[in-house]
Amino acid sequence: MKKFIKLVGCGLLLAASLAMAQTPYTDDAVYRGLGGKEGIRKIVDSFLTLVLADPRIKDNFADFDIPQINQRLQEQFCEYAGGPCKYTGKYHDKAMEGVGPVRDMKSVHQDLQITNAMFNALTEDLQIAMEQHQVPSGVALKLVAKLAPMQRDIVTK
Ligand code: HEM
Repeated sequence: MKKFIKLVGCGLLLAASLAMAQTPYTDDAVYRGLGGKEGIRKIVDSFLTLVLADPRIKDNFADFDIPQINQRLQEQFCEYAGGPCKYTGKYHDKAMEGVGPVRDMKSVHQDLQITNAMFNALTEDLQIAMEQHQVPSGVALKLVAKLAPMQRDIVTK
C-alpha cells in the first residue's frame, strides 16, 4: 500500500512538473532578454523565413496562412516569456461534436503528421533566429525550455 501511495505521489509530481513547464514565466526577464515585443517581432520574422526555406520542414507550411502563424507565434512567445501578451490561438470549435471549444497546440497540430525530426529542425531554426538577433544564449535556452514540453502535444508520428 505504501509503495502504491509513493507511486501515485511520484506520478502526481511528474504531472505537476510537466504541467508547470507549460505555464509562462512569472517574471519578464526572458521577455526583456528577447527585446520585448519589437525584439520578438523580429525574431519571429527571421524564424519563419528560416522555416520556410528549410528543406526538412518547409513543405509542411504550404497552403497555411503564414501571416496568421506569424502573429500567433509572436503572441505565444511573448506570453511564455513572461511578457504582457496572450496567445489568442486558433479556435477549434468542437461544440458541434459536443466537446466544447478547444484551443491548444495539440488540436492545432494534430492532423499535421509531425515527427521528432521535424520538431527538432524547427527548434534549431528558432535557435538560429535568436542568434541572428544577438539574444543571449541563456535567454534563448529559457524560451526553448518553455516550448520543448509541447513536443508531446505536437509530435504525432
Ligand atoms: C515548439 C514547437 C512548435 C510551436 C511552439 C508551434 C507553434 C505554433 C503556433 C502558435 C501556431 C499558430 C496556430 C494558430 O493559428 O493559432 C502553429 C501553427 C502551425 N504549426 Fe506549429 N509549432 C511548433 C512546431 C511545429 C512543427 C514542428 C511543425 C511542422 C514541421 C509545425 C507546423 C505548423 C503548421 C503547418 C501550422 C498551421 C496550422 C493551421 O493554421 O491550421 N509546427 N504552430
